[in-house]
This record gives sequence, structure tokens and C-alpha cells, in this order.
Amino acid sequence: MPTILVIDDNLAVATALTVLFSLHDIATEHAASPEAGLAHLRAGDIDLVVQDMNFHADTTSGEEGVALFHAIRAIDPDLPVILLTAWTRLDAAVELIRSGAADYLGKPWDDGKLMATVNTLLELSSTRRELATRVRDDARRRERLAADHALCGLVYADPASEATLLLALQVARSDLPVLITGPNGAGKEKYAEILHANSAVRGGPFVALNCGALPHELIEAELFGAEPGAYTGANRAREGKFEAADGGTLFLDEIGTLPPSGQVKLLRVLETGRFERLGGNRERTVRVRVISATNADLGTMIADGRFREDLYYRLNGIELRLPPLVRRPRDILPLARHFLGDRKVLGEDAEQRLLAHAWPGNVRELRNVVQRAVLLAQGQRIGAGDLGLPDAAPASPSHPSADEPDRADIEAALARCGGVLAQAASELGLSRQALYRRLDRLGIPRS
Ligand SMILES: Nc1ncnc2c1ncn2[C@@H]1O[C@H](COP(=O)(O)OP(=O)(O)OP(=O)(O)O)[C@@H](O)[C@H]1O
Ligand SMILES: [Mg+2]
Repeated sequence: MPTILVIDDNLAVATALTVLFSLHDIATEHAASPEAGLAHLRAGDIDLVVQDMNFHADTTSGEEGVALFHAIRAIDPDLPVILLTAWTRLDAAVELIRSGAADYLGKPWDDGKLMATVNTLLELSSTRRELATRVRDDARRRERLAADHALCGLVYADPASEATLLLALQVARSDLPVLITGPNGAGKEKYAEILHANSAVRGGPFVALNCGALPHELIEAELFGAEPGAYTGANRAREGKFEAADGGTLFLDEIGTLPPSGQVKLLRVLETGRFERLGGNRERTVRVRVISATNADLGTMIADGRFREDLYYRLNGIELRLPPLVRRPRDILPLARHFLGDRKVLGEDAEQRLLAHAWPGNVRELRNVVQRAVLLAQGQRIGAGDLGLPDAAPASPSHPSADEPDRADIEAALARCGGVLAQAASELGLSRQALYRRLDRLGIPRS
């Protein structure tokens, strides 16, 4: 049962309100002075306050009410407060509405109107409480996850990222080959490190090879090693990455660029654990956990005959799909603050610009933008202009971007958040202003 605290020196008012609220299954606590009211507030679970503006018969300025209101805000800035005041003395109350009071009520009041306001506020306040609990639970869960696993500095806050991380931690323990897919800069290498750090072979080496960074003729020597004379310029024996990764993890980045003959040899090691160095005939055996990554569409490459289907199935024991940053908007600000460290702070305008950007280069782009802004910002505070990002111009309605929340997304978010716009905006990964603009454009009323 919700509880309302009535702070009023007039016993008749307090009694009338207590009776009215009890008819609506709401408990009432009564305090006859501001001091007593604040003591109640500190002691207990109050969902809403109804407060008088004048406490002594000889004062009518509302000063005491103003002071009381500010004292309540200091204790709990989110607690809804309804002001009770004589109709002839509205000034102070109206002023307090600007400072965040929920509503004011002239004495004598209309019961029906009062209850409508009270019910709305109680609903909002319970939504807010649930959200606060959820945020606290989220934080606890993240702390536990970080305490029990090596997260390699991964920063995340979005539920989509949490789901990805949980899957990664689950498959890390198995020795299934993992194929990590996702766009540029989305964190594929970071996840490869996490997979290794939480695997049974975490005590072994982690060896990474970017298949796209080498000329084709060198890749096989790099992977499997070479004996002297195996190719022009090979005058010493060299160990390949498979040998180096023995007992640990080999991370093959940009696997889609591996040429056909390399694909055949790779398939053989994956199937048998055996290979020979280039130009050599001694068969070598290794135990290597293989993690590969690509931002190419291997399905299309298979259809075009550029990637072996059998190799694809060998590599893809399980696919870890990293969503682009726009699809996990709640990661944006935590990541930005992480890259910023304690060097400077982000202004609110900068935060909004960050939230509005589409991030084609994902986390890497965000890191670069933040680093550049640190250099460019004159003072301690980074403003939107320091980010060097295009203006967050509202998209034209005829060409809504694929990543923009549509009417259904917005209405669903508003419903989930009990109409609290700030919360809905953050769920949608929009700034409050951007949400307002979108509501106006879609003709959805703001209240
Ligand atoms: N969630 C995250 N938390 C902290 N840092 C991250 C996160 N995701 C990515 N990074 C950092 O962003 C940069 C880019 O990530 P990474 O190199 O893993 O991306 P990638 O998907 O491998 O990119 P590419 O396709 O271009 O190779 C790296 O410096 C990485 O450490
Ligand atoms: Mg990479």
C-alpha cells in the first residue's frame, strides 16, 4: 500500500485527507510542522508528500512552505510533492512548480481532481522505483560478472552487449571453434581476448594473426612456419603461428581474406591437428583453440566460391555476432567516459551529439572522436563542437534512417517507462531533445 505524508498544521485538513486517501487504499502519515515532516521523511518509506505552504496563523507569505519544499528536495529529489495553498496566495506555489513541485492545490480542494493527480504521481513514483531497483540490480550483476571472469577491460551497459558477453563467457569454456562476426571496430579482437582469458587454455599463449595484413604468398609461412629455402628469401627455419599457439589460442583475424590454398591447409589442421612447415616433411601436431573473425559476409563468399564451405563449418562451431554500436546505444556514453578517463568531462550537448551519431566505425571511431576532442577542447569541458561530428539534423520524414526508432519503438518505450520522457529517451538511445523532435514529427503528444 502506498503512503502519503501530509505536512499541515491544520488538523481538519489532515483528517479530511486521511479519510479521502484511505478510501483509495492509500496510507497517510501526518506531521503538523515542517520539522516533524522532515523527520517522517527521513524515517520511512514515503511515496508522495502533500504539504501546506503556511504553518503559523500570522504568516501567509508561504516562506515556510518554500523552505520546507527545498528541504524535502534535498532529502529526496525525486519524491513528488503536492503543495496546498489558499487560492488567494498562489504566487509562492506557482514559483515552486518551476523548481519541480508536482502540482499545487487550492484550499478547499476538489477531491476528484486531487485523487486523479495523486494516482498519476503514485504510478510514476512506483515506475521510478522499479527503474531504480533495476539499475541497482544491473550494477550488482555486472560487478559479479566482472569479479568472476576476466573481462579484459570490456565496457558495456546495453542489454544487447550483456547478452553477447554472457554467450561469449559460456562458449569460452568449451573448446568449440568460435567465429566472431561484426562490423569494423565493433570489438572482435577484444572478444577474442575475452574468449581466451576465460578458456581452459588461458594459461597458454594467445597468438593473433591478421590474415588481411599479409601478402598471400607469406600467409602460409606465417601460419605453418617454413624450412630454409621454402620460398625466396627464406634462409632460416621459422616457426609458424600454429606452433607458437600450441597449448593456447590462435586468433585468425579477417579470415575471409585467406587465399584458397591456405584455406585447404587450415582445414586440414583443424580436422587432424597436424601440419608440416612449408618446404618441410616432418609432420607436426598441435593442440590449438582456434578463434576466427571476419567483417565480410562469408555466406556470400561461399556462394561465390571464394570461401570453402567445409572450412566455414569447421571454424564456425559457434558464431558470436557483435552488434554495431548504434544497435547498443546504452554503451555509447559509458564507452566515451571510459576513453576519456579523468582527463576532461563531457558536456551535456556533447553527450547528446554522441548519442545522435550513427557510428559507422563503431567503438574504434568513438575512441578516435573522444581522443581528438580531448586535444581540441579548450577548457576542461568537451562541448558538442569539439567532437567534429556532423550536426544531429533531424532526418527527413520521407527517408527515415534504418537505425531510427519508429513510431512503434517509441510508443513501446513510452509505455514501458510510464510516459517518463527522459527514461524513454535513454531507453531509445536518444537525447531528450531528439525524442521531442521525433514525437512532434510523428504527431505523438508529449504528455
Ligand atoms: N566494449 C568495449 N570496451 C572497451 N573497449 C572496446 C570495446 N569494444 C572495442 N573496444 C576497443 O575499441 C577498439 C576497436 O576494437 P577491436 O579492435 O576489438 O575491433 P574489431 O571488431 O576487431 O575491429 P576491425 O574489424 O576493424 O578489426 C580497440 O581498441 C578495442 O580495445
Ligand atoms: Mg580487429
